[in-house]
Amino acid sequence: MSGVTLHTLNKHKQDKTKFAVLTAYDASFAHLVSTCGVEAILVGDSLGMVLQGNSSTLPVTLEDMVYHTQSVARGNQGALIMSDLPFMSYASVEQAAHSAAAVMRAGAHMVKLEGGRWLVDTVKKLTEQGVPVCVHLGLTPQAVNMLGGYKVQGRDQSGALQMLEDARALEDAGAACLLLECVPSLLAAEITENSKVPVIGIGAGNSTDAQVLVLHDMLGVTPGRRPKFVKDFMIDASSIEDAIKNYVADVKDGSFPSAQYSFE
Ligand code: KIV
Repeated sequence: MSGVTLHTLNKHKQDKTKFAVLTAYDASFAHLVSTCGVEAILVGDSLGMVLQGNSSTLPVTLEDMVYHTQSVARGNQGALIMSDLPFMSYASVEQAAHSAAAVMRAGAHMVKLEGGRWLVDTVKKLTEQGVPVCVHLGLTPQAVNMLGGYKVQGRDQSGALQMLEDARALEDAGAACLLLECVPSLLAAEITENSKVPVIGIGAGNSTDAQVLVLHDMLGVTPGRRPKFVKDFMIDASSIEDAIKNYVADVKDGSFPSAQYSFE
């Protein structure tokens, strides 16, 4: 695949052609997923759970994100690399600029931040400075202690309205894309329809412009109970490569996620 850029993702949005995103944290998997048709690699702070064995993403540091972004950048074959800014590394606009510079220097093409309207000034500043920002809404795992667990968000009217307004405000501030996690399908569809920027979903139904999964989850190697929105693509595959290609194909033709993997 020749280099995927923000322009490529915007073109997918305009053309209504879905694209696939997967996490990767090292050079070998970055090479594999980017040669299997994935448009974007997320160097997610989920690495704190699936690589480091923590029970949340909170212990992940900026140094961890820089190290894994550098590794992914070395193996990547043309996918767009999006890196998470970890917990409390963007508590002020100045700190966000410092943290974003570190992961962009490490090889990221975009940063991802978790939160709502309070990020408006940060998104504006980073965007003005040439850093594309994806904003993660809905279930924001860095706020698990405020949310009281890993729960579907936006189920009631006020929560749904707040998410719609946050999405609008962040897009107006310059967000390059949005990511919705654990959001009822109808709400995700409404946010996607009202956004000019690509919307990536995880546990947000199949109306979003793209899907993302944690690589270890979709390969069935994450220990413990599998969340409802995760499909184990290894079950019907003969190899890891086959599983990733099936995921990409199912995202692109809209068959994943079906209702079984969504919240109504
Ligand atoms: O860190 C991560 O992998 C993520 C996904 C769950 C979207 O943010």
